[in-house]
Amino acid sequence: MPAPDQGRSEADPPAPGWPDVGARPPLGSLVSVTDFETAARSVLDPAAYDYYRSGALTEWTLAENEAAFGRWSFVRRVLTDVSAVEVSTTVLGTPVSLPVLVAPTAFHCLADPEGETATARATAEVGTVFVHSTLATVPLEDVAAAGGPSWFQLYLFTDRGLTRELIDRAVEAGYRAIVPTVDTPTIGIRYADQRNRFELPEGMELANLAATLGAGTSEEGGSALRSFSSRFDPSLTYEDLAWLVETCGLPVVPKGIVTPGDARKAVAAGAAGVIVSNHGGRQLDGDPATLDVVADVADAVGDDGEVFMDGGVRTGTDVVKALSLGARAVLVGRPVLWALAAGGAPGVARLLGLLGEEVTDTLRQCGVRSLGDLGPGVLRPSAPAGGGRPGW
Ligand code: GLV
Repeated sequence: MPAPDQGRSEADPPAPGWPDVGARPPLGSLVSVTDFETAARSVLDPAAYDYYRSGALTEWTLAENEAAFGRWSFVRRVLTDVSAVEVSTTVLGTPVSLPVLVAPTAFHCLADPEGETATARATAEVGTVFVHSTLATVPLEDVAAAGGPSWFQLYLFTDRGLTRELIDRAVEAGYRAIVPTVDTPTIGIRYADQRNRFELPEGMELANLAATLGAGTSEEGGSALRSFSSRFDPSLTYEDLAWLVETCGLPVVPKGIVTPGDARKAVAAGAAGVIVSNHGGRQLDGDPATLDVVADVADAVGDDGEVFMDGGVRTGTDVVKALSLGARAVLVGRPVLWALAAGGAPGVARLLGLLGEEVTDTLRQCGVRSLGDLGPGVLRPSAPAGGGRPGW
């Protein structure tokens, strides 16, 4: 992956679209996701920051994802001997050191010259799972070679030959699961990207697709990515999910399920589990917060699959709340991008390490010794007017 400005002197500005890695802060000064976001904002190209941060239309769902965590408080027990607390678990049979996976997000080279390779390496170092995006800026084979256990996020294209080729390459490269995104008949309308006419800068490409489609995503006006997504197949049904399960021979975990009925249909079609997700509030503005629906989805799936959740997870307490409501593990997207921009691979490792520490601390403070002991009894609804998330 070319990184045109990385040999530059301190005086030269980075090429448009590339992060100003020379301006990164000392990592030790960053202790929360908001610290990472502030640092990331100062090094990222403004259009890249907007692309990562924004949600669909009014961003109501984006805000709800975070706000939902404030609607629950803990039922804390004392004197339970929390001298030893265990936060490791397994996801689809793969051991992970913490119940936090790295969500699929696009275009990591906007945040770091090494792109997805840096993120995957850091994720492996911490001992959890990286989910590689179809819309990555480093080819899936290179990332698989650099990282640890990874899953592959799949957009299904109207061109089934292209889709099939991606699946075969992911299987061949050793990805352990396929994660079809099912909430994106087309990329959502995000005003910031429309205003910025967001597109990849010179020297960056859709690396998983470039060999087949040729370089460049730039099309007429607005967001080039949204135009590009007219290639996604909007006619998908559960038959296509069953086809994918049969074709790939790997566990399939659709991402973007928000109702118990869809979750049941997904497992009936052969899915190994589901990811409760509203795409980080980037698709349907008006979708509920994922935390508000995860318990119903988990009940509907029962023992027939594993239920994961993403959306708004920013602290260890958020992780513990999601797990108490039925998620086996959560995925984090934007926080990882902030960490990648703020500090490259060491930034991502630091962020995941801090989240792991916060999960451990939360269990201990709640009087709970292991993830298996979490359940609805650990939570109670907060007073309606209470909560919110003041500056932290
Ligand atoms: C891509 O999946 C995006 O949400 O921009």
